[in-house]
Amino acid sequence: MIRRGAAWLTVLAAVVTLGGCRGVQTMLDPAGQQARDIDVIWRVMLAVCGVMYLLVLAFLAWALWRARRARDARDGPPVTGESPADAGLGRGLTGWTALIAAGLVGLTTVSFLVDRSLADVGPSPIHIRVTANQWWWQADYQGDAPSENITTANELHLPLGRPAVIELHANDVIHSFWVPNLAGKVDLIPGRTNYVAVTPKRLGVFRGQCAEFCGWQHAKMAFDVVVEDPKAFAAWMARQSASAAQPASFEATLGQSLFESKACVMCHRIQGANAGATVGPDLTHLMSRRHIAAGALANTRGDLQAWIADPQGVKPGTRMPRVPLSSSELNAIVTYLETLS
Ligand code: CUA
Repeated sequence: MIRRGAAWLTVLAAVVTLGGCRGVQTMLDPAGQQARDIDVIWRVMLAVCGVMYLLVLAFLAWALWRARRARDARDGPPVTGESPADAGLGRGLTGWTALIAAGLVGLTTVSFLVDRSLADVGPSPIHIRVTANQWWWQADYQGDAPSENITTANELHLPLGRPAVIELHANDVIHSFWVPNLAGKVDLIPGRTNYVAVTPKRLGVFRGQCAEFCGWQHAKMAFDVVVEDPKAFAAWMARQSASAAQPASFEATLGQSLFESKACVMCHRIQGANAGATVGPDLTHLMSRRHIAAGALANTRGDLQAWIADPQGVKPGTRMPRVPLSSSELNAIVTYLETLS
């Protein structure tokens, strides 16, 4: 009875575990060419190593069964010398060695082909420079036209089907760029330039996560990747390259002057306002993003207020200091930020 219960529990655990194979942050649900390539090698490795593992277990079981049978058949210890079964041992070993060699050659071939595919970026890629900071991401799109040069933070947009070459930099310590649904992980290393190619093959919003321990808030160093059709991407690009509009309401105008006179302006840039610092994320189109604080909070009025009122409470150790503000000042600044669409 207990055994049967354990078997059912195992099946249930497997179902629950496999249920986690779909989602916005999993390499088991590839939505990019590179992730698909990696998925192929993963499946081949799993199959080959799984078969090898089962064979080893089967031979072990057979050896145990054989030893027990030999012991039962005789009085005294099993005889380890010549027996009819041993005649096949040499042939068995030869076959086993051939199997291992075939497995290794197969894995090497698949690895070679996948590496070749990963190195082949494809025609007319878009270029993005991503810079990792403790603990947020800056993205600079580098196009041919001025309207294709935009700066944003913690959210990438990519057109479906078109390759993107992402140049990876780090400002402080080593981080790692990883969007499991789209591509493999690549480190961002201070003083060094790395690259990762991403060719999205499915529409959707995927989650990226820093994959190299980089300090206290490493876990809260995430970003969104929005894969959209080329038209929607062009529209997003056009909106991002525009300057922020002047706020219309009194409270938002007050918020802007507070933003420009308090410590906010020491770190953030808002194109179109008197704010040009680049220490923290560019806020020109803040409200177009899904999250704030590098995925730590949703981008809602309440979360914006909470974040500005007490950044260290939300994300201890973050470089964003608490700026002393009255509640009406905080409200005005958030009202201004909400105009940054
Ligand atoms: Cu950046 Cu971990």
